[in-house]
Amino acid sequence: MKHWLEESIFYEIYPQSFCDSNGDGIGDFQGIIGKLDYIKDLGCNALWLNPCYLSPFGDAGYDVQDYCQAAPRYGTNEELTQLFDEAHSRGMHVILDLVPGHTSTEHPWFKESCKAEPNQYWGRYIWSDNIWVDVAGHAGIAGSLRGLYPRNGSVAVNFFSNQPALNYGFANVTQPWQSAVDSAEALETRQAMKDAMAFWLSRGCDGFRVDMAGSLVKNDPDSVETIRLWQDVRDFLDQSFPDAVLISEWGEPDKSLMGGFHMDFLLHFGPSHYMDLFRCEHPYFSREGKGDASSFVETYMRNYRLTNNRGMICIPSGNHDMERIRKYLDCEELKMVYAFLMSMPGVPFVYYGDEIGMRHLSLFSVEGGYDRTGARTPMQWDDGKNYGFSDAPAEKLYTVQDGAEDAPIVSRQMAEPDSLWHEIQKLAGIRREHPSLCASGEIEFVYCQPEKYPLVYLRSAGGSRILVALNPSGQEVSCPCPYEQREVLYTLGKEAGIEDGMLHVPGESAAFVAVE
Ligand code: NOJ
Repeated sequence: MKHWLEESIFYEIYPQSFCDSNGDGIGDFQGIIGKLDYIKDLGCNALWLNPCYLSPFGDAGYDVQDYCQAAPRYGTNEELTQLFDEAHSRGMHVILDLVPGHTSTEHPWFKESCKAEPNQYWGRYIWSDNIWVDVAGHAGIAGSLRGLYPRNGSVAVNFFSNQPALNYGFANVTQPWQSAVDSAEALETRQAMKDAMAFWLSRGCDGFRVDMAGSLVKNDPDSVETIRLWQDVRDFLDQSFPDAVLISEWGEPDKSLMGGFHMDFLLHFGPSHYMDLFRCEHPYFSREGKGDASSFVETYMRNYRLTNNRGMICIPSGNHDMERIRKYLDCEELKMVYAFLMSMPGVPFVYYGDEIGMRHLSLFSVEGGYDRTGARTPMQWDDGKNYGFSDAPAEKLYTVQDGAEDAPIVSRQMAEPDSLWHEIQKLAGIRREHPSLCASGEIEFVYCQPEKYPLVYLRSAGGSRILVALNPSGQEVSCPCPYEQREVLYTLGKEAGIEDGMLHVPGESAAFVAVE
């Protein structure tokens, strides 16, 4: 039987900003439940929820205070379970965000570990054995906290200073205070994380997007022990929750897939060249036609081969950590972006609001968002109060909203047949109708030259082949093409055609063509 990921298209929900059902200015579970039909109508059949656990929200929930309790501002555990059930009854799946690398400083485990007297949680975090010995500066440790707590030692942080690093051990132990990966304390941390996973999986959650998945074991230069750790987690899941899906924020699919992850995210930082396509001075998908997709394609294909052509690399339209894509491209250009996202292998992710081209706002930091805050503003549903996001007074909203006269709005785009919203809906439908366009259909690039257009690739599965030609630039372009045209499945702009071994692609047009 086909795995549900094969035909899935994810919709990422930043719960704070999606839909507020109780008028407190912050989104919640009931708000999400009320919009499931909307998400399905758009063409997405799976959800990724950013962390929705109890938290002081110093990093928007990526600072967990209790892995097994929903944040009261979103609702109760029962309501989150209801959300899983409601999604399942519509044939949709829901993954939560697992943050295994660190907790909040408010987590009871951390509070115990800070005490001067040794206790059960002393080994849960990475502490030196003396305040004068700094844990910072060791491989995999982002920084340290010193002098804040009664315990005589310094403690490692994994990201921000309010995120102490959980202790999964060191691959290469070089200091007396470092635990081995198979030490009792490191294995207890691992077990605690498995327990948290089991807690939600047994309530109907379908899996996890795993935050900083490659960061758990410290001083692990080739990730050998981190991969082993995830293999052990996968073994546990295979025994108890075999259907549980794991998707990693890692950016090295060869490693994460070896660790048992189903898919890995293409990251906007590091070596992926993702930004060359959508977010740089001259994005490839801009109609000015000055972009370059070749480094992206080269890196993508290297990773693709490293994963034995499994292609399980997720490409997002954006996420809560990046500037909104609309900052760089207008809604017409974005249609082409979705022709790309919906025809690539792996699983596409649509970030809430990107389906209408919500803008990136310039805002002061909210909940540790800093310059990411502008991509986290409340959803713009309709022409009503607060764009239908919430009944609260405007000053109580999670952040301010786009005040522009032409701010994109869901209800308006749904009413306009040629809107970005409808283009995405159409593309999602076409993707699902054609197995070669879905997650594991193979890909081969037919034309991709430095600083040149078009971008052409072939997707294939079970003997059927679809040629995808994308020309975001304003000029008509041509390239050699060894295939015979059978049927045009999708056109954006003017129609492309294959003639005498050449593919002609009009300016600002895209085509999916069944070929022989
Ligand atoms: C990646 C998350 O996407 C980001 O929002 C968060 O701040 C860091 N990991 C730390 O958890």
